[in-house]
Amino acid sequence: MDPRRILLAISGGIAAYKAPELVRSLRRADHLVRCVLTPEASRFVSPLSLQAVSGHSVRSDLFDAGEEGKIDHIGLADWADLVLVAPATANLMAKMAQGLADDLVSTVLLATRAPILVAPAMNVNMWSHPATQSNLATLRGRGVSVIGPDAGELACGWEGLGRMSDPGVIAEAVAAQGVPPTLAGARVLVTAGGTSEAIDAVRSISNRSSGKMGFAIASEAARRGADVVLVAGVTSLPTPLGVRRVDVQSALEMRETVLAEFDEASIIIKAAAVADFRPAEVSDRKIKKEELAEGASMTLELVQNPDILREISARKGDRTVVGFAAESEDVVAAAKRKLVRKGCDLIVANDISRNDAGFDVDENAVLFVWPNGEVEELPLLPKPGVAAQLFDRIEKLREG
Ligand SMILES: Cc1cc2nc3c(=O)[nH]c(=O)nc-3n(C[C@H](O)[C@H](O)[C@H](O)COP(=O)(O)O)c2cc1C
Repeated sequence: MDPRRILLAISGGIAAYKAPELVRSLRRADHLVRCVLTPEASRFVSPLSLQAVSGHSVRSDLFDAGEEGKIDHIGLADWADLVLVAPATANLMAKMAQGLADDLVSTVLLATRAPILVAPAMNVNMWSHPATQSNLATLRGRGVSVIGPDAGELACGWEGLGRMSDPGVIAEAVAAQGVPPTLAGARVLVTAGGTSEAIDAVRSISNRSSGKMGFAIASEAARRGADVVLVAGVTSLPTPLGVRRVDVQSALEMRETVLAEFDEASIIIKAAAVADFRPAEVSDRKIKKEELAEGASMTLELVQNPDILREISARKGDRTVVGFAAESEDVVAAAKRKLVRKGCDLIVANDISRNDAGFDVDENAVLFVWPNGEVEELPLLPKPGVAAQLFDRIEKLREG
């Protein structure tokens, strides 16, 4: 079961300003969120903002008699399915390692029996200090999970390790807590996003794929413990937690990368919108309008791209290969034809004529089309939900 009730403990680092965004990411993933702050944290983020985004009153004072009357500090510690500490200051990590309980947050952290996930954020020298590293080792030794910190430019002006992980990535780490590693040992290769086929030095032909479906699939596979490679076409999405990403542009580059990763893969899911055609010739400079007669039209000759799904299905052996079909009419018949033509294990078909599902939106309504002719229609679901349903089916298929 995913943790549902998240107690977000916020300590006094500059990254506390990201806490409202983190609350929103957690609530979007259907978690109930309550916030507690250290007194120093409320200098960096307003309790009122946190109350507004979490939908619950926010506590900071251990000795607030009125709030203790509503839900006391032990009640908060017991309420949580997971306590998330973000940002975790060097000071709070030291207090946790020592078992100190001199404010609401540290007392709740000592009292809870829920799993704890910390997202440290601090200056690079504070992070690498032996005291902090020793506290970190103590916390890890007690089963506390840690996400980040990331490297980059820090608020204090230094460069290096110390940035709090992105709120979206922390939300993914929360979602991964307690998920049984049913895909441990599997190597999952996912393709996502559209390809971009160059016309000249500045122009290209692409499509409207956002990559959201494929990225949700990669994220779900990682949540279930798989070793995941994500071959990403044109997309602006951040890399899901625990996923190795290879960026490509054209269909030819995508084919090359997929073939290079093919041998090691046990499950291959081709969710990318790969261009069927590419310009026959690519100019290495910008084609100028003045090169044509006034008002003249321009003809672009297109040649077919290789069919990657058919190629890998033909040599799949005991790998599981899943293809996607974006269809605008007669979806079931078109998906069945595609399944036969490609020779894969399953086609996930979506009707792109719907406005509420498919390309560039957060939800999808798909059909699973199986080689025995069976068609399973799923309701409209958020894309991570579709990804979970897909892996439930793939795991059954591989067991059977
Ligand atoms: C502007 C400013 C930014 C700070 N940022 C951080 C930080 O990112 N990480 C950290 O560990 N401490 C940071 N500190 C120091 C903490 O605020 C300080 O150690 C404080 O005692 C932490 O209290 P708490 O852990 O109870 O919230 C910062 C202090 C100031 C004045």
